[in-house]
Amino acid sequence: MSFKNKIFCALDFSELEQTIQFTNKIKNHIGGIKIGLEFFCKNGPAGVERLKEFELPIFLDLKLHDIPNTVTKAFRNLMSLSPAYLTVHLNGGKRMIEGLIEYKKKTKLIGVSMLTSLDQNDLKKSGILCDEMSYVEKLVKIGASSGIDGVVSSPKEVKLLRKKFKKLIIITPGIRLPDDDKNDQKRTETPGKAIKNGSSLLIIGRTITKSINPISSIEKIIQNIENAI
Ligand code: C5P
Repeated sequence: MSFKNKIFCALDFSELEQTIQFTNKIKNHIGGIKIGLEFFCKNGPAGVERLKEFELPIFLDLKLHDIPNTVTKAFRNLMSLSPAYLTVHLNGGKRMIEGLIEYKKKTKLIGVSMLTSLDQNDLKKSGILCDEMSYVEKLVKIGASSGIDGVVSSPKEVKLLRKKFKKLIIITPGIRLPDDDKNDQKRTETPGKAIKNGSSLLIIGRTITKSINPISSIEKIIQNIENAI
């Protein structure tokens, strides 16, 4: 697998035309595209259908989280889009996740552990007193025993998760090149370190989308991976 295939660009745009134009620019340099709430809330399933025309794997990051009945019904509606990956929040619990397994067909069901924008202080404020790693591990255990295909975690936890959950797909956002702005992310790492530590796929947004030269940024990301391993 070339490293290009490890890079999924987070297309955090609202406008369909802007998203299409940007994807056109980078489509030959990435392994897939990640569509999240910003795009989906504006363009809906029809917008996703348009992006499917690029024939790149689609990571539909809607982070479903509700009672099992509601999530199962939303999930079944989304299955008509047959994305390559679809996310749900692991803290929705075992019953919520298990209810989806029979409907997922070829889509990989991915559990979001702890958002990379949160840290230990945020956990503490919510009354969660364990450290970040133990919290993530607990959530991943729930997911793994409920039949998920993979998890999203910060690149800070990937090394330990890879050791304990050898077969899971581990997807890491929170990726930054050494000179990048962290923006709202707290638990970040370089692309090279994330891959070296066992990440299966990197979700990278602003490092590419806000770059004055997105293709050169992708090349820097690939170079950073090559230098690390
Ligand atoms: O711009 P940046 O590279 O920070 O974008 C990261 C992307 O990954 C965003 O689209 C965000 O929604 C997503 N994500 C995340 N943390 C998670 C799960 C998804 O940052 N735990």
